[in-house]
Order: sequence, then structure tokens, then C-alpha cells
Amino acid sequence: MTKKAQNQLSDGTMISDLIDLETREVQLRTLADREIYDLEQERLFGKTWLLLGHETEIPNAGDFIQRYMGDDSVLVARAKDGEVHVSLNVCPHRGMKITTSESGNTQVHTCIYHGWAFKSDGQFLGSPVADQCMHGKIKSKEELGLTKARVTLYGGLIFATWNIDGPSFEDFLGDAKWYYDMLFCRTDAGLEVAGPPQRFIVRANWKTAGEQSAADGFHTLTLHRWLGEVGNYSKKGEGEGKGSDLTEEMFGAEVSSPHGHALRCIDLSRKIRRLTGKDPSELSVEERLRTLPPPGMTAEMVDQLKNHFSDEQLEVMAWMPPQVGGMFPNIIFAFLYIPQPDGTVVGSLALHTYVPKGPDKLEFTNWILVEKGTPPELKENMIMQTTQLLGTSGMVEQDDSDTWPHMTLSAKGAQGKKLTLKYQAMYETGKPEGWPGPGIVNEGFTKDDTQWHWWLYWHELMTSES
Ligand code: FES
Ligand SMILES: [Fe+2]
Repeated sequence: MTKKAQNQLSDGTMISDLIDLETREVQLRTLADREIYDLEQERLFGKTWLLLGHETEIPNAGDFIQRYMGDDSVLVARAKDGEVHVSLNVCPHRGMKITTSESGNTQVHTCIYHGWAFKSDGQFLGSPVADQCMHGKIKSKEELGLTKARVTLYGGLIFATWNIDGPSFEDFLGDAKWYYDMLFCRTDAGLEVAGPPQRFIVRANWKTAGEQSAADGFHTLTLHRWLGEVGNYSKKGEGEGKGSDLTEEMFGAEVSSPHGHALRCIDLSRKIRRLTGKDPSELSVEERLRTLPPPGMTAEMVDQLKNHFSDEQLEVMAWMPPQVGGMFPNIIFAFLYIPQPDGTVVGSLALHTYVPKGPDKLEFTNWILVEKGTPPELKENMIMQTTQLLGTSGMVEQDDSDTWPHMTLSAKGAQGKKLTLKYQAMYETGKPEGWPGPGIVNEGFTKDDTQWHWWLYWHELMTSES
């Protein structure tokens, strides 16, 4: 490939010009263009760490699940020694898929085409009719194993990358890890999945969902307006002094990251006042955490927090914890409190990925998480309420998945594709007073800063040829 071909699209547009760094605009065509999609497979999905699932989906030796890293199917399997391996699900013989099952258990993965066999860790075991040396004499058995990805487990979540010598997962998270730990590494036993993930196809480019996940708070006021109006969610009459539609509990701190990660840390004061009738400033950090444990934790589990967090982290968890946000490139988390008719709350821990399936299609995957040891009735309630809110037919997801296909179609129009996505609501207000956490933190309701950082990292990866 020539230098020109690597930097330009076939119509002559420079990849670097897809984003105007001065005016903070992104060309709408990036949401539908096949060439850009193909480059993303190489430069983005071939380089960054990607979420594939949770280790509790494959608890036993031989357990496996089939997942995707970009367009590539991968086999996520637990070997006899307990280690989790991620291998390209493509037979090195002639390209058939090794497994066509979504999940299962086997010690030996045998290709259905000509019968080559592989271990859970991807090693080549052998081919049939051994006396004919079907796998040939040119390559050694070691050379005929499945292509392996680099794997990291974080809070039990399985991440993998094709960038074998690239940055560690810790480096990839950077300062944002300080906040993600408050979600995924809270208890001694850790999280587990509440069953296999739900999945559905949305006819939209993966970036429509990916960039929104980088903490777009503004759309919640319009697209999800009902969240402030309906039933137990109603916050009518609480917006005075904050601007027309804003209530106290929408305010907080937004964490941006040079690697495109984003977290919205949202003020718990209103909820604590409602539950206790007291001013939260009169309560200690511990009292606040016991009154309102982090979503999905019971009051009994709160003692374990001190085993995992610094005083500064506990302070943030009791004051303005991260509740919604994303991890680059295609992850959103929502660790929320769902209001109940009696004024109490039920925790909801949802994690989604938006897996690309072509320039105008994504697969939405939704895991529901619970802390191990969650009482069965609470677990059942969390699953039901999370499904209703954030599942494939959940009230929130129906809103979001209504807009993404329209944006993708807009990006295909001869006139529409000339427009831009705009990220000009940048305030850089700085951290809230007394904020003890690291990273790029801005106080207020929501900003374009987080999504702009998401696009800046997209731009960095897409314009990097190495
Ligand atoms: S393609 Fe797999 S054994 Fe031939
Ligand atoms: Fe949304």
C-alpha cells in the first residue's frame, strides 16, 4: 500500500481532515463510510483493548464462548489450568470457523471441515489420518496453532487486544482506572454475570452508540425526558436555580480521558437527604455509604469497601460516584439507582458493548452484573428492573436505538454527508472544590469535553499507521 493510500480515502479526503481540531467538528460521513469502517478494523479494533465478556460466563475448564473483536470472531476459552485464552476463531488450514457454537464446553475444538483439532489455549493438537500427515511437513505443529490475542482480566471482565506489544490495560485506562475500580472492583468476592448477555441488532454505525457512551448527558434531557417526569422517576419542581430542566442530582463531575474513556460522577446529596431527612454534610463518609450503598451492594457488603479503596476514593463514592459512562471504544456502563414507589432504590448494574457488524449495523450486547453473594430476591429484582430499563427492550435503550439508525442514514445522504457532528459545548470548568481524584475532571451537569476526547483518540488511532 502506498503512503497516499494509507492517509487518504479514495475520493482524496485525508483521514486527518475527517475531524476539524479547531472548530471541534467531525464529518458526518464517518458514520456510514465503508472505507473508514475498514480502516477502523485495522487501526482501532486491531489495536485497542476490547471487552469480550466476564470470566463467570466460563467458570469451568473447557468452557468457551464465541465473541467478536471487530469483525473477527474469537474463541474465549478456559484451559485446564484455569487460564482464560482468546484465539482467533479461524482455522489455519482453510479458514473455516473453529467453533460455530455461541458457547459450550470441550477440551478439544475440532474444525468441522477437515477435522484439525485445537486445545482451549489455541495450540494445534493434530489432524485426522495422521499417517498421511494431512497437516503437511512444511510447518511445525507449533506454527499451526490459532492466532492468539493478549488477554487481561479486570474485575473478572475479559479484555483482549491484537496489539501484543502495545500498552498494558492499566496504561490504556490511565487515570480513569481510579474511577472504574469503584465500579468493577468493589467487594472481596467480586462481580458475576446474571446469565448470558442479551443481544440485538441495531441498523446503525457502531460509533453513533460509541460516542454517545462517552458521557453525553445532554441527550438525557430530551430523548430520555421521561426519566425526570414519569412515576417514581419524577423530579418535577426540583429544577429551580439550576436551569430549566436540571435538578440537583444531575450535577456532578465529568471525567475525560486522553484515551477516550468517560465517566459521569453524579451527586448523591438529594437521594441521601430523601432517605435520611438529613443534610448529607452532617453525615460521615461511612454513614453515607451505609445509608445509600453503591448500586447493587447491600449494607452488609459496605464494610468490604475499605479493603479495596483509599479514603479519597471512599469520599468520592459517598459524594459523587461514577454512575454512567463509557470505556473506549464501544462500551457503556450504567451503575444506577432505580427509584422505587416506597422511596427506596434498587441497584442496577448494566454493561453494554456495541460490536460493529458493517458500516451500518451494530450488535448491542447487554450484560447484567451482580455482586457474588447477592441475596436471591435482590438479584431477581435487579435482573427484572435492569432488563426493563436497560435491556434489549428496555425503556432507555428503546430511546437510544431510535436515533442511531437515523444518524447513520443521514450520513449516507448526498447532502447529509456534508454536515458535521459538533462538540463545541466545551467548558473546562475544572474539578469541583475539594475533589480528590485524578484525571481531567470538570464540574457541572455535562459537557462535550468527554465526547470530544473520545473523537480525539479515534483520530489519533486512525491517523497512526504503525
Ligand atoms: S478448514 Fe479447518 S480443517 Fe480444513
Ligand atoms: Fe441514552
